[in-house]
Amino acid sequence: MSTTKHFLQFKDLSSEEVEHLFERTRWIKERFLRYERYWPLADRTLVMIFEKASTRTRLSFEAGMHQLGGTAIYLNTRDTQLGRGEPVEDAAQVISRMCDIVMIRTFEQEIVERFARNSRVPVINGLTNEYHPCQTLADIFTYVEHRGPIRGKTVAWIGDSNNVCNTWLQAAEVLDFNVHVSTPRGYEVEPERAGLYGTDHYEQFSDPMAAARDADLVTTDVWTSMGFEAENDERRRAFQDWQVDVDMMRVARPDALFMHCLPAHRGEEVAAEVIDGPQSVVWEEAANRMHTQKALLEYLLLGHV
Ligand code: CP
Ligand code: NVA
Repeated sequence: MSTTKHFLQFKDLSSEEVEHLFERTRWIKERFLRYERYWPLADRTLVMIFEKASTRTRLSFEAGMHQLGGTAIYLNTRDTQLGRGEPVEDAAQVISRMCDIVMIRTFEQEIVERFARNSRVPVINGLTNEYHPCQTLADIFTYVEHRGPIRGKTVAWIGDSNNVCNTWLQAAEVLDFNVHVSTPRGYEVEPERAGLYGTDHYEQFSDPMAAARDADLVTTDVWTSMGFEAENDERRRAFQDWQVDVDMMRVARPDALFMHCLPAHRGEEVAAEVIDGPQSVVWEEAANRMHTQKALLEYLLLGHV
């Protein structure tokens, strides 16, 4: 059996590994801010496969890999044989013989898992319908930077129980914090799809205000994720009371932070006053994608340094 370490969902990391990644992130970020060269991945190549659109994920991986001294190659479905039916297993065999690490953004989680099973090199999930582990890694790093350890804290997730929500729920189990989730009826968390061990790190609320009460962090995401566009009108109707607005932030703790993985729709899942307001850390959160992923690339390729 292969011992290659992949990052396909958040629970692929232990709390000790997350701690190590955060330590490395702080160090790597400081060096970046001081314009100090750090090239541990010279001569290494990252292949990035995108089957869905991206701004942050592509840029943060591509820029991050260059800053570590390596090279990043962008592939998408339209311009490769993946879009013409080449089996993912065959693509993995070939691609993983020509590079050192792979990042994939795709539809079903099963696709990244099949790729990883046939890959000779580490595979990173850059978002699937089920999970977005790189996002939550950056989000938690951002929380810790602003407020200290997340253990024992309460995160309020308002809106769709989507890929980012599922990843928060897994992270809560790994890092021992709580998530209060509020979704409209019919959009509740599916524990099995979320890949949870148990249900004791989250609580479901039908009332979003109740979920936000006394939270240390309030977070949300689009009502309609990529790949679900056909449900847009139906979702817009179902989610209209699930907007994070000023009143909702008021019932959270006074020092609560607001996060959003972006891209955001002001006036839908979040009010402009909140995302552009003093509790919002969305720009730091987006920037930390690059710093945390650089630590992840370093760890998956070089282990503990
Ligand atoms: N948050 C995030 O993954 O953004 P992109 O879709 O722009 O990559
Ligand atoms: N839940 C969103 C996240 C985008 C970064 C989506 O999957 O479209």
